[in-house]
Amino acid sequence: MSVIERPTLDVERIRQDFPILAAKARGHDLVYLDSAATSQKPSAVIEAIHRYYAEQNSNVHRGLYELSELATEKYEAARATVRSFIHASDSHEIVFVRGATEGINLVAQTFGRATLKAGDQVLITAMEHHSNIVPWQMLCAEKGALLKVVPISDSGELLLDEYARLLTPRTRIAALAHVSNALGTINPVREMIEMAHSVGAKVLIDGAQAVPHLPVDVQDLDCDFYVFSGHKVCGPTGIGVLYGKAEILEAMPPYQGGGDMILSVTFEKTTYNRPPYKFEAGTPHIEGAIGLAAALTYLEGVGMAAIAAYEKDLTAYGAERLIEVPGLRLIGTARNKAAVLSFVLEGVHPHDIGTLLDRQGIAIRAGHHCAQPVMERFGVPATARASLSFYNTPEELDRLQEALCKVNEVFGR
Ligand code: ALA
Repeated sequence: MSVIERPTLDVERIRQDFPILAAKARGHDLVYLDSAATSQKPSAVIEAIHRYYAEQNSNVHRGLYELSELATEKYEAARATVRSFIHASDSHEIVFVRGATEGINLVAQTFGRATLKAGDQVLITAMEHHSNIVPWQMLCAEKGALLKVVPISDSGELLLDEYARLLTPRTRIAALAHVSNALGTINPVREMIEMAHSVGAKVLIDGAQAVPHLPVDVQDLDCDFYVFSGHKVCGPTGIGVLYGKAEILEAMPPYQGGGDMILSVTFEKTTYNRPPYKFEAGTPHIEGAIGLAAALTYLEGVGMAAIAAYEKDLTAYGAERLIEVPGLRLIGTARNKAAVLSFVLEGVHPHDIGTLLDRQGIAIRAGHHCAQPVMERFGVPATARASLSFYNTPEELDRLQEALCKVNEVFGR
């Protein structure tokens, strides 16, 4: 058994921070390889949420009493933690949303709706998650605009020449995955943002699969918008982040109407609050924001550069082990990959792979991964996908490899 020579992280110690990793599944030690669907949560996050409800719970931005001041302080401190984590220049550029999906819909329905005219173009890529396709399709249909798609190579890399060709002065918005959830490809988004800006387009980056795995600096990227979900970065579900450049958020119309997003309301006229509050109508997901901040603080403690380095080795190791399995084909073999091993096994439906691995205590996802165009591109109905995190070990990937050999045996190979 070849394992990673010099692990850059003390993974055994890290695993103790995640209570669920000690669980059994179908009588085996759980091997959790579905972190692209949702990550597991460290005790620091679970405790922060517990502490919030036990000691700090009240509504924010409204109460005049001590407890409400405390909750408000924690909620706004969470925003400052997010700002620092993605290196935005100002906390007012951080809008709390339900997740990456809501962030994209918000931008499409506000900025997109106000900007797009008939004949304009929105440019996406062939490796987008449905959440970065459908909101733009809906918008284009409403506006009479065109949706253009950057194709991908057989290895799962974007064809940058095609990207350059598809960028035209009619391109108003480019909406691009930082990392593909189905293929694991890390796209050269910095370069792509610069190219889009050169034709005057604004750029939204879907960072749902990037923020858990790579250090992200929105100022260095110079993106106009960046979205990610809390539950994929060791935080709670139902919370996510939309980053937008201050001057763009200022100019954008509001999304939903309601409390907190206004300065004053009369039946004749409403004046809106400034960003980010203009986009946070209603009581927000307070404990979600606090839990997310605890998650980001935890990740910072481990170190995003160390996480990226460890996961790169782990992913390469996993790919080596998987291709030893007879009949296995990896889908997505880009040079620059993050934490995703999508594959098919000759003669076995991916759902059967998922079920048979589950019987051996191994949790993976099988299906189209909300990226049906990717499946179509590779001519498969679905893939099995093992998605990794810094709390996974090479030994778990050995177990995956052995379990896949058993799947083969069941199917008579
Ligand atoms: N988008 C998530 C995934 O890739 C749910 O599994």
